[in-house]
Amino acid sequence: MTDLSTIYLGLDLKNPLVVSASPLSKNIDKARKLEEAGIAAIVMHSLFEEQIIHESLELDHYLTRGTDSFAEAMSYLPDSGTYSMGPEKYLNQVTALKKALSIPVIGSLNGVSKGGWTSYAKRIQDAGADALELNLYYVSTDLDLTAQELENAQVELVAEVKSAINIPLAVKLSPFFTALPNFARRVVEAGTNGLVLFNRFYQPDFDLNELKIVPSLDLSTSADLRLPLRWISILQGKINADFALTSGVHNSNDILKAMMAGAKVSMMASELLWGAAALAPQRIIEILSHIQQWMEEHEYTSIKQMQGSMSQKSVKDPAAFERANYMKVLNSFRELP
Ligand SMILES: Cc1cc2nc3c(=O)[nH]c(=O)nc-3n(C[C@H](O)[C@H](O)[C@H](O)COP(=O)(O)O)c2cc1C
Repeated sequence: MTDLSTIYLGLDLKNPLVVSASPLSKNIDKARKLEEAGIAAIVMHSLFEEQIIHESLELDHYLTRGTDSFAEAMSYLPDSGTYSMGPEKYLNQVTALKKALSIPVIGSLNGVSKGGWTSYAKRIQDAGADALELNLYYVSTDLDLTAQELENAQVELVAEVKSAINIPLAVKLSPFFTALPNFARRVVEAGTNGLVLFNRFYQPDFDLNELKIVPSLDLSTSADLRLPLRWISILQGKINADFALTSGVHNSNDILKAMMAGAKVSMMASELLWGAAALAPQRIIEILSHIQQWMEEHEYTSIKQMQGSMSQKSVKDPAAFERANYMKVLNSFRELP
């Protein structure tokens, strides 16, 4: 029997398939069905810094105290749906999921600045979460803000969150850093146990008839796997952290590739969200059985044996290797006669 188990953030998981932060954690019955189908852990949808600040401002009747731009920023927030769920409701959901499930539940905080809101890291821990994922989603639009300043602020935020908790911490990063390896190492030095690569940025479109911005959230495809796959294979073995791959995991091959790059787990959202909710558990069963089958056919006895087997840790100069591959792939293109 092949051994699918893996260890992520010190958690013993029965396989590397984890449900990524998404509305899939909103409904207890649906989460239970995903567990029955075989997922090894679930990351909750995020509790956002803005939700926490919003609630505390409302409580204190302080909404008018902030600067105009702050009040305006608050007015952008959704007033219904998952991300309007107040912080107390979020904590109750952590506890309810823990009670209903036997797999690890990973809480998720999403924010950019240091401050009182980070006390929710400990509250999520106290509500029962087995680990915490901190998502640093931020689109910098300020011409005066330098990369160094932004990175320093993010590293300080990670250290602040880490110092508040004693459960493991993973940080979810964006791929858009000039010097990602250096930043990733700094995040780990600040106390992170895991790196979740990568955030998918939502990219708004324009509606040419209505002349409006369309906030479209396109689900991923397996083609999106390449970016995190490349980066995990570059960083694995060089940085002392557990890697989780998110973006573009849709089938058993995607998961096997993630493992070979060096990920400890692969996280899935789009594949489980695109169809009717009732289809998701069946998809999980299929994917896990395909992994098992592939491993048997290729004589792998365990996932651990596979992890990192295709990483670049033995490549002496990965940057030169990347440039050479880039040239090769450009060269391989043949124009039509
Ligand atoms: C509807 C939806 C909601 C999401 N909500 C969150 C969230 O609350 N926090 C977070 O860190 N990521 C969130 N994500 C991002 C996913 O966790 C995941 O990283 C991303 O979708 C890439 O994985 P995929 O290719 O499997 O979809 C969300 C994604 C979707 C599609």
